[in-house]
Amino acid sequence: MLRVGVITASDKGSCGEREDLSGPTLAKLVQEIGGEVVEYVVLPDDKTLLAEKMRQWADELGLDLILTTGGTGFSLRDVTPEATLLVADRLVPGIAEVMRMESLKVTPKAMLSRAVAVLRKQTLIINMPGSPKAVRECFAAIAPAIPHGIQILKGEASECAQPDVS
Ligand code: MTE
Repeated sequence: MLRVGVITASDKGSCGEREDLSGPTLAKLVQEIGGEVVEYVVLPDDKTLLAEKMRQWADELGLDLILTTGGTGFSLRDVTPEATLLVADRLVPGIAEVMRMESLKVTPKAMLSRAVAVLRKQTLIINMPGSPKAVRECFAAIAPAIPHGIQILKGEASECAQPDVS
């Protein structure tokens, strides 16, 4: 089982002015890759608070995967990617590239998400945009590769070669 944390970045959500629908959507979706949400929080769009939570879940809880939703756009309050880069040990550009590539088939606005994916110690952290629809589209794009990536990160798989069945 993959131990997953979900952070919803939303000023309105954090003070109860808006119900968070994207966090619960992610909680359902991760079951498709053998994941279970063991930590969930709604935080304001605050770089320090977001980074601190990611650091805590990675360093103290050793979560396998942290998914964030929201705060990736152009609003001056959107700082989730910057918070994520603050705690990054290594970058995983391909994950964000694939999310945008697949999302662009659905909407040209996909290019407006500044989402990043990074590794901190043995935790994979992935940003997603804020709407449940965007979360579903982005998750579908990356889900097939995530369990294998985490296995390698955890040292549970070292062999990537697959028999050629074509
Ligand atoms: N990606 C997908 N797959 N589907 C979407 O509907 N919306 C876009 C983009 N990425 C969207 C998407 C829009 S409208 C914005 S403004 C940016 O994500 C940033 O969203 P955020 O600020 O909620 O993170």
